[in-house]
Amino acid sequence: MASDQDQKSPKSHRFDLIILGASGFTGKYVVREALKFLNNPSSPLKSIAVAGRNATKLAQTLQWAAQPNPPPSLPILTADTTDPPSLRALCTQTSLIINCVGPFRLYGEPVVAACADTGCNYLDICGEPEFMERMEANYHNRAVETGSLVVSACGFDSIPAELGFIFNSRQWVSPAVPNRIEAFVSPGSEWTSMGNFGTYESAILGVANADKLQELRRSRPRRARPVIPGPPPSRGETIEKKKELGLWAVRLPSADSIVVRRTLAHLTENPNGLPGFNEQAEIVEKREAFWSSVKPAHFGVKLGSKSLLGIYRFIIVGIFIGIFGSIAYGRWLLLKFPFVFSLGVFSKKGPSEEEVKNGSFNMWFVGHGFSNESLASPKNTKPDFEIVTRIKGPESGYRTTSIILIQCAIIVLSQRNNLPKGGTYPPGIIFGATDLQERLQRNGISFDVISKSTISS
Ligand SMILES: NC(=O)c1ccc[n+]([C@@H]2O[C@H](COP(=O)([O-])OP(=O)(O)OC[C@H]3O[C@@H](n4cnc5c(N)ncnc54)[C@H](OP(=O)(O)O)[C@@H]3O)[C@@H](O)[C@H]2O)c1
Repeated sequence: MASDQDQKSPKSHRFDLIILGASGFTGKYVVREALKFLNNPSSPLKSIAVAGRNATKLAQTLQWAAQPNPPPSLPILTADTTDPPSLRALCTQTSLIINCVGPFRLYGEPVVAACADTGCNYLDICGEPEFMERMEANYHNRAVETGSLVVSACGFDSIPAELGFIFNSRQWVSPAVPNRIEAFVSPGSEWTSMGNFGTYESAILGVANADKLQELRRSRPRRARPVIPGPPPSRGETIEKKKELGLWAVRLPSADSIVVRRTLAHLTENPNGLPGFNEQAEIVEKREAFWSSVKPAHFGVKLGSKSLLGIYRFIIVGIFIGIFGSIAYGRWLLLKFPFVFSLGVFSKKGPSEEEVKNGSFNMWFVGHGFSNESLASPKNTKPDFEIVTRIKGPESGYRTTSIILIQCAIIVLSQRNNLPKGGTYPPGIIFGATDLQERLQRNGISFDVISKSTISS
C-alpha cells in the first residue's frame, strides 16, 4: 500500500502545515490532534506552525495541546485576517493552511483570497453555506489558475453527512436504487453543553443574512441537478418519532444538506468524479469505479433526541435564533446571553474538557428506495426497500471535527497528485474517492450497515 509520504509537494516549503486560529476553542483541539501525527514515520506531517493574532495565547495552546508532555517547540507565527500581507506571508511558507478562524462570514474571505492568489492549499471547518458558495463564486477561477485547492466544511459540518450519504448510497446495488436518504444526528448524551460561542455566533449570523444566500444564488448560473428515480419525498411531520432508531426527530437547518447537494451537482456534471492533476492509471480506474457506484438521492438532515423534551429544547432554541436573529437588538441579546437563549447548549466558555472527552455522536442514514429501478416512477410509487447505515464517533464539534480535519490535511499532503489541480469545492467530491473513510475508521469513527429490508406496504 502507498505510504502517506508517497507524493511530495512540488514546491518545498518551510512548513507542511500551518494551523491558523490555533488559539481558538476548536483550534486547540485541532493542534492536539495534529501533534499525534507530527514526525510519526509514516506521516507527511514533518513540520507544523501555529498562527494567529496573539502569540501568548498560541503558546498557551501548545502547552495545553501537548499535555501531559512538555509543549513542542513549534514556530508561532503572527497573522491577522485584517492584515492581508500577514496572510500572504503564511501562504509563502506552507503548502497547506487549515483555517479555524470563525465566524467565516466575518474573517474567512481574506484567508481564502490569500491562498487562491498564491496557490496555497486551504481547508477549513466552516459550516456556513453562504460563505462557501460566495468563496466558490469569487475565487474558484483564480484557485484553478494558481493550483490552490480550497475545501471548506472539513469538520463535523459536513464530512459525516457527505461520506455517510455516499456510504448509504453505495449499498444500493443494481438494480436497486435509492430515492431519499435521511440523516438523523443525535448526541450520545443529552442535556450537556454542546458547543462553544463561535459556532453559536456563526449560526446567528447565518440566520441574520439568510437573504444574502438567496441573492447570491439568483446571481449565479444554475447547477446541474441529478436525476433521481421516483417521486420527490413529502415534507413529512414537523416532529417525527423514529421508532427503529429510538429517537424523536426534527428537521435540522444545517449546512449538511446544502453541501451534499453541491457534491451531487459536481457529480452530475462530472460522472467520473474530478480528475486529479497527475493521477496514475490505477487511481483513475479506482476513482471512476468509485463514483459510478454512487447513486444520487434526495437528502435531508434531522436532529434526533431520545426524549421529546430534548426535541422541544432544540425547537425553542431555533425559534429564539429565528426570531431574534433577524433584528439587530435581538442579535445583541442572543450574543450577550448565549447560555440563556440556547437553553444551555452553547456558552462563552464552551463545553468542559470532560464533556468533550466523554461526548459522542450517532448519525443514522435511513435510505428509502426501490429494490428494482423499474419500480420507480415519478408518480406516486412508494419505495419498497430500506437501507439503514450509521456513523458513530467521539464528541462531534471538537474531537470528531479535529480528527476529520487532520485526516483531510494528511490526504492533501500525501495524495495531492490525485486531487484536482485547484479550485473551490465541497469536501465530498474531493475526498469521497480517497481513503478518508478508512482513515476515519482507524481513528475511532465507525461506518456500519445496520439493516437492509423490504418495506411492507
Ligand atoms: N465544522 C464544524 O463542525 C465546526 C466545529 C467547531 C467549530 N466550527 C466553526 O469554527 C469557527 C471557530 O469556532 P470556535 O468555537 O473555535 O471560536 P473561537 O474560540 O472564538 O476561536 C476563534 C479563533 O479565531 C481567531 N481570530 C478571531 N479573529 C481573528 C483575526 N482577525 N485574525 C486572526 N485570528 C482571529 C481567534 O483568535 P484569538 O484567540 O486571538 O481571539 C481564535 O483563535 C466557528 O465558525 C465555528 O462555527 C465548526
